[in-house]
This record gives sequence, structure tokens and C-alpha cells, in this order.
Amino acid sequence: MKLTDEEQAMLAGDFGPGVQKAMEILTALGRIYGADDLVPVTSVQVAGVSYKNLGDAGLEFLAEWAAQGARVRVPTTLNPAGLDLDRWQELGFDADFAQKQARVIQAFAAMGIRTTCTCTPYLVGNVPARVDHVAWAESSAVSFANSVLGARTNREGGPSALAAAIAGRTPRYGLHLPENRRAQLVVDVRCPVQSSADFGALGAMVGRVARNRVPYFEFRVWSSGLCPPQSPITNPQLPIPDPQSPIPIDQLKALGAAMAASGAVALYHVAGLTPEAGEPGIVAPDAERVVVESLDEGYAALSSDGGDEIDLVWIGCPHASLAELAQVIELLAGRRVRAALWVTMAREVRAEAEKAGLVAALESLGGQVVADTCLVVAPVRELGFRRMATPSGKGAYYAPSHSGLAVRYGPLEACVEAAVTGHWDVA
Ligand code: F3S
Repeated sequence: MKLTDEEQAMLAGDFGPGVQKAMEILTALGRIYGADDLVPVTSVQVAGVSYKNLGDAGLEFLAEWAAQGARVRVPTTLNPAGLDLDRWQELGFDADFAQKQARVIQAFAAMGIRTTCTCTPYLVGNVPARVDHVAWAESSAVSFANSVLGARTNREGGPSALAAAIAGRTPRYGLHLPENRRAQLVVDVRCPVQSSADFGALGAMVGRVARNRVPYFEFRVWSSGLCPPQSPITNPQLPIPDPQSPIPIDQLKALGAAMAASGAVALYHVAGLTPEAGEPGIVAPDAERVVVESLDEGYAALSSDGGDEIDLVWIGCPHASLAELAQVIELLAGRRVRAALWVTMAREVRAEAEKAGLVAALESLGGQVVADTCLVVAPVRELGFRRMATPSGKGAYYAPSHSGLAVRYGPLEACVEAAVTGHWDVA
């Protein structure tokens, strides 16, 4: 691997042991994946934040790295933690867990990382430009950055993303190279796909087939009901938020998150919509072609056994936008919830929701707007929850294995009804 003079000095320890450790990780990865060199990154998203996943070994590793003087060189944000950092007591989390989680956050803060804990950094200002090289480590955010924003990132792990933040670079391989961004699977979607739950079901189905390949979607009808243009728009440069998008941002994030969970999809294209879809040669000549005529298989795959009594309804995987919270309140129509209802979101989005009166509105009906965490990385079994309803494909996919919850999967409307009645009534 070719290293610049500065990079060689970093590797030799001239910039301190923290930087040296980062360079050792990056150059080892670069050798494994055959990278020619390192590419500078403009931002980093670090995963591996919850103490539930890190344990004491992970906490000590981070604290030691911070004590070695490691500091990030580029804007860096954090994935969800194991609890709401401000309101953990009120929500019933254990004090010992909270204290350990606080030490994890302190280690990241000491490295200069912005300690907003969210899997939607693009909703709170970490928005890479098209063709920016970044190093992101949250699979749903990776998918969004690559596919919707047209930035370039591999699906990083926690240590490799942190190393990239400290060195300001990442090995140039995989999705940093244009030739690896071509689609190898064309998905001809012939059925209507409208709600976020529909997109999650579609993502769960396509992820299984695609595995780590790049899918190229051809929708016969947009979720808005409009017909897609015949020839793809080249580089529409989707802004955020984009109320005019034929497939709203919230649904694109649901699609990418579900594919990243059931498969390892880190990039997808949508004909006529996403930034790279119109580029010449974006579909490989030997791409496989599949047709989707129904979402039933996806819906079925995302529900597990465990009865129809629901004690928890979870909205906000990936973390919710203001629009999603507003929709939940509208669907409640003044009715109080019987089951616990959690809407998880970034702390900054929660602050905006507070200003808009949305937090008070949900709380007055018995729901909670929970910041910093999610029900996959939080120790929710310890809170006594057993059976959950959710409209999130990724949440439904992981909750049984990661959180020990039985899941009912369905549209937001059905989930809100389950929150009100405590029962899942969808056939
Ligand atoms: Fe985010 Fe947790 Fe879902 S990290 S994408 S809310 S599983």
C-alpha cells in the first residue's frame, strides 16, 4: 500500500500512540482488501456505542485509546447508545448500566466526537455531499449515504470507523471505487409499495436475494402514485428534507435499513430517483433480474410467533423524523395508549419536536419520545417487555435475536392501534 510521508510518520508513531493504533488498523485492513492507498474522508459515523454490546472489554478499549491522546480529525457522530442519556431513570433503566454507558460516552467525547447518538446522522447535520468519501459504520446509515446521497463508504465496523476518524482516512477499496458501485441485481417491482412498512417488507425480501450485491430498483409506480419517468433522471441530488421526492426520505431509509439487515446491502439504486441511477453502465451487463409481484413474503418473514398481546410498540428504526412523530400523534387521534409506545429519535430531533409541541402531545396520550437509543441496542428485556409491534423492517428483523422480543410487523396504522388496544388485530 502506498502511504504519503505524513501517513508513514503517523504509522511510525510520530503523532502519538493513539494515531499509530488507528493507522495500524487501517493499513491492516487495506492489505486484507487489496487497497492501493488511503483516501481522505470528510466525515465518520461510529457504531459500537451501546454498553450492552461493548461490555467492559469494549469500554476499557475505548478509554485506553482516548487516554493515548487519540483525537478525531473530521466531523464524527455516534450511533445509538444503550439508553436515553438524560431520561434513563424515568424509563426504568438500571443505574449501573447507565453509569457504564456514561463512561463510554465520555471516552468518545474525549476524542472530540459529537455525542449525538443516532443512526440518522443525516437528519442532524452530518450530510455528506455527492462523491464525498466517508467512513460510516451503521448499516442503515451506510445505505442512505451511498444510495440516497451518492457519497462513498464501505460498511465499516466500530473500530475501523473510529480509526478512520482519528486518522482522517480510510483504505480505498470496495464502494470507494466506482467500478464496485454498479448494480448486479435488477429488481422489477410490479406491486404497489407505499408505506414505510411496505418498503421494509420489500427490503427484507430483496436483501435475502441480494446478499451483498448492489440492487437496482425499477418501480412501476412510485409510492406517491405517480409514474416514474421513462428515462432516469441523472443526478437529481436529493436534498434533505425533500417533500417533493416521489419516494419520501423516510421510506428510502426504511428500504435501505431492511436490506442492510436481511442481507448486507450497502448501496442500492432506484431508476429515475437516486443520484447514480442514470449513470452509463450503472447496471452490469450480466446482472440477475428478479420480479416482485407481492410483498406478502416480506411481511410474513418479519413477524415471529409469540401471541397477539402487545406490551410495546416501537416506531423509529431508523430513528424517526419529525414527520413520522407527527403522523403517530395524528393516528392516535386523542386516544390514550394501553401498551408502552416508544418513538425513538435523535436528541436534536427530539428538541425540535419539543418546540413544536409534539413531545407534550404524545406524552399526554401515554407515549414516550425516547432519544439516544433504540430497542435493539437497549437492554429492553430487563425493562420487562416481551411482545412488540413495529412498522420497521430492520427493527422487526433484529428484535427477536438481539432483544429477545416476539414481534408483530405491520403498517404504522396497525401498530398505533395495537398501542391503543394492547392487541394485534391484523389477520
Ligand atoms: Fe437505528 Fe437501532 Fe434501527 S441503530 S436502524 S434504530 S436497530
